[in-house]
Amino acid sequence: MTQKLWGGRFEGEPSPLLRRLNDSFAFDRELFDDDVEGSTAWARALADVGVLNEDELDAILGALVRIEPPTGGDYEDVHSYVEAKLYELIGAGAGKLHTGRSRNDQVATDLKLWLRRACGEALDAASALIATLATRASEEAATPMPGYTHSKQAEPITFGHWCLAYVEMLRRDRGRFTSAVERGDECPLGSGALAGTPLPIDRDALARSLGFARATANSIDAVSDRDFAAEYLFASSLMLTHLSRLAEDLIFFTSDEAAYAELPDAMATGSSRMPQKKNPDVLELTRGYAARSIGELTGFVALLKGLPLAYDKDLQLDKEPLFRTRAVIASLLPALNELIAGLSLDRERMRAAAGGDALIATAVADALAATGMPFREAHDQVSRNLANLPSLAKQHGVTLDGMLAKKNSYGGTAPERVRVAAQEYLKP
Ligand code: ARG
Repeated sequence: MTQKLWGGRFEGEPSPLLRRLNDSFAFDRELFDDDVEGSTAWARALADVGVLNEDELDAILGALVRIEPPTGGDYEDVHSYVEAKLYELIGAGAGKLHTGRSRNDQVATDLKLWLRRACGEALDAASALIATLATRASEEAATPMPGYTHSKQAEPITFGHWCLAYVEMLRRDRGRFTSAVERGDECPLGSGALAGTPLPIDRDALARSLGFARATANSIDAVSDRDFAAEYLFASSLMLTHLSRLAEDLIFFTSDEAAYAELPDAMATGSSRMPQKKNPDVLELTRGYAARSIGELTGFVALLKGLPLAYDKDLQLDKEPLFRTRAVIASLLPALNELIAGLSLDRERMRAAAGGDALIATAVADALAATGMPFREAHDQVSRNLANLPSLAKQHGVTLDGMLAKKNSYGGTAPERVRVAAQEYLKP
């Protein structure tokens, strides 16, 4: 009676087979703090409209803070757990808390509170990575290396400029998390099961008491909407996609063939068989987790696409992809951060590679064009004289540092540009 939230019309107990399938407590207890927070606000709102008197409110609030975070037990879901504990602590008075509320508006609210924290964590993790990349960019603003297109040596760039490319991506990622929070900043509580609550609750005040900007405008949408969660998964999977590209670059930079950089020992693994190996597992796992997070996103959107309004139990499956994604971000980004901070560069080798014949071809064509020759003709001449590139370069005064310094328009790889750009991002 005190443990189940429903059952009056049913004969006997639910089948263990139903329980095993239907119960969500094994995973949704991650929403415990949010459920208590939402319940606390709801209890106050109930007192405001006279459903709870002062003593009843005090009893409920006093008990809510005493409930231990779940460690296990036989409950249908986290909401049943909180209510069962409330009964244990204060008896029948606990039964008033669910007045005018449904688990449908409750769970949507819990999830939004949870997502606000998850987005905050993602923002912090991305910011830490941005700071590390910008620091390295400022240190390596004048460190040349080959730049690639189609995985073929293209033109020289600086390592700092490469770092800042990922800073740009991460800054856009941060923007996506921020706008996901902003768009989702509406409180579903007070929407009831789907039609609204019969109590004269000031929903905007309730929303603000939970830190939301406002209340949701349509109760049917409020209990069925999971856009904010889809946006979190999209922002996460795109961020991990960016980091997967970074990982792929670094796997190449640290390969035996390129050997521009070496992983810090603490962020590499060995082989049980081959004594010489120093493996980039962290980077490979980054690629792997990016793949998985794209799967979380597509699975989640597929979950939503056929759902009739309003709440359907399919929505119970919205949680695990979110929880897994948060856990991945929490472990992966700090590891990447440490790896990038500890990456040691072989600057001589990078410089030698950046000054290779193939990489100066475009600058030689530019130099010919600067004498008045149409660029098309210059391009043609250089491409017919690739064997003579070094002497052509000498003849036209083309040097590696000169080439880099010339790429000084906004957004270019010139060391001076990179230094200034990195400083911008390092400003507090
Ligand atoms: N455990 C459920 C979920 O996660 C809570 C909402 C249940 N609502 C319902 N009408 N059965 O979605």
